[in-house]
Amino acid sequence: MKSKKKSTKSKKNTAKLIINSNTYQLPIHKATEGSDVINITKLFSESGYFTYDPGFTSTAACESKVTYIDGEKGILRYRGIDVSELAEKSDFIEVSNLLIYGDLPNQKQLKKYRKLIVNHTMLNEQLIKFFNGFRRDAHPMAMMVGVMGALSAFYQDSLDINDPHQRMTAARRIIAKAATIGAMSYKYSVGQPFVYPDNELSYAENFLNMCFSVPSENYKIPKIISRAMDIILILHADHEQNASTSTVRLAGSSGANPFACVAAGVASLWGPAHGGANQAALEMLETIGNKNNIDKYIEKAKDKTDEFKLMGFGHRVYKNYDPRAKILKNICKKVLAHVGVKKDPILELAIELEKRALKDSYFIQKKLYPNVDFYSGIILRAIGFPPEMFTVIFSIARTAGWTAQWTEMIDDPIQKIGRPRQLYTGNKSQKYGKIRSKKNTR
Ligand code: CMC
Repeated sequence: MKSKKKSTKSKKNTAKLIINSNTYQLPIHKATEGSDVINITKLFSESGYFTYDPGFTSTAACESKVTYIDGEKGILRYRGIDVSELAEKSDFIEVSNLLIYGDLPNQKQLKKYRKLIVNHTMLNEQLIKFFNGFRRDAHPMAMMVGVMGALSAFYQDSLDINDPHQRMTAARRIIAKAATIGAMSYKYSVGQPFVYPDNELSYAENFLNMCFSVPSENYKIPKIISRAMDIILILHADHEQNASTSTVRLAGSSGANPFACVAAGVASLWGPAHGGANQAALEMLETIGNKNNIDKYIEKAKDKTDEFKLMGFGHRVYKNYDPRAKILKNICKKVLAHVGVKKDPILELAIELEKRALKDSYFIQKKLYPNVDFYSGIILRAIGFPPEMFTVIFSIARTAGWTAQWTEMIDDPIQKIGRPRQLYTGNKSQKYGKIRSKKNTR
């Protein structure tokens, strides 16, 4: 399409775009930290051009106050607080409150919020019957996607997205019930009876108890294990506009109910390039097997004709060590020492692989460092989880971020349905008969 309108002179805080000798002034919005953005919302109506950015590598899809990442420096903050500080001093419930409400709660608010969350840990008994419909060998993430979406059929008093009270009730239900659904997915896959939530326990303890206790004997949760679980939940709670969060926002932009939106987020998280990388990373380490094979696999990862990638390595935003991986690497050693693994060959292999990759010019030049998924699987395996549960645990933690980002989006006055445009490169108009008579080369 031809340019529609000539623009005026450049102003302060505007960018100038020249297309076919027509100049367009594009406002620049200031970020409190990180990159400012060029507002192109009027570009199409004024110029007839779309911008083209597959994978959103240079596109901010929304304004947000929830989470900040500095990928060059390896910084991650929730509502301005560094995750390392939260991992040291906070717990998952408090972090979820921080993400949703925007600031740390006082003691009274936190107590009330904890109570509101534990009020929602149980699942409707009818909903529990859903699990029986799955094959025993179903991946727990398949159950997680299905049962999360099914919540919308059971909690119909929190579906009105225009009612702030219902929105908050839905958010608390999602966070509380995610642990129960995740634990039941696990119990179903190993053929053990479901364990109901125990509201006397912390969020992390309750999840572990629902996964590992059995009716025939007591399950004592070691403090170091529940703390490790809590830290894993804190570190996975949010990560600004990643694929699954953007999926939740996009689904929500049409007015869909929050349970359906979060189920869409769980589905997006499942992929190996995203949350599924924790399972893939551990499986990769098992395939590599021993230190003698490391160089061979590093070469495979560098070979463009080979699909193999180092799982748990690289990140769209971090061009430095992922701060979450740094924390998890330390916890890994503590958890292994506690469970009595003096020398875990998989951990040793991971440390050696990291060391060699970080010395390799390919990884140095492309700034590929270990990400959160590189060490989390080793910890979760030591706690007793099979690899299929790793992404489930990621999704349980991420319910805090998804609901925080979803409520922020609904409250945003400029929010509208997400509707990307395209660069069409298909056929021009042609007659039906002409298509039929063409030789089919498919
Ligand atoms: N192993 C080997 N090469 C890699 C890797 C890797 N793990 N990651 C990126 N590269 C290369 C990639 O081939 C590309 O090379 P070139 O420029 O020659 O084409 C270059 O580095 C840039 O990578 P990219 O794929 O363009 O980067 P991206 O931002 O599109 O992808 C990523 C980021 C995380 C999907 C990718 O690094 C990857 O697939 N990593 C392995 C999977 C993984 O660990 N995912 C978890 C991400 S962190 C948790 C989460 O957010 O869910």
